[in-house]
Amino acid sequence: MIKLEINGGAREIDADPGTPLLYALRDQLGLNGAKFGCGMGQCGSCTVMIDGEAAFSCLVPLSALQGRRIRTLEGLGAAGKPGAVQRAFIEEQAAQCGYCIPGMIMRAQALLERNPSPSRPEILKYMSPNLCRCGTQMRIVRAIERAARDMKGAK
Ligand code: FES
Ligand code: FES
Repeated sequence: MIKLEINGGAREIDADPGTPLLYALRDQLGLNGAKFGCGMGQCGSCTVMIDGEAAFSCLVPLSALQGRRIRTLEGLGAAGKPGAVQRAFIEEQAAQCGYCIPGMIMRAQALLERNPSPSRPEILKYMSPNLCRCGTQMRIVRAIERAARDMKGAK
């Protein structure tokens, strides 16, 4: 059994230690927010947070996660009660097909936790590992700027 801390709770799974976190989340833990895109660390659709940093879950084996804090999209909010970043993405209509968006939201959350007032160039730089094939980038940037304002206003 492998023990993981996910979204503040303890989870146990029976899996090979070499299994990528993404597969365990989706196939065994019912956490489908993170998406499989490339499986090679090149697109960002599988992004989660590990110890507060954005990470590609397709590249991280379960064996590397002992004692580390994992957060997934499901940990930020739910359809009826979205978190600040999720709400900003909805309000800015920052999606076309939506496939990249869970990863974008997780990377944006990591950014705003380390830098609550990022400049537009800082947002573009930090978000650059995550790709959007629909060309929604500018709406995504506006959503992150809105989330930053909202999160500051809520304090
Ligand atoms: S699926 Fe992980 S980076 Fe593309
Ligand atoms: S909205 Fe389609 S890939 Fe980003």
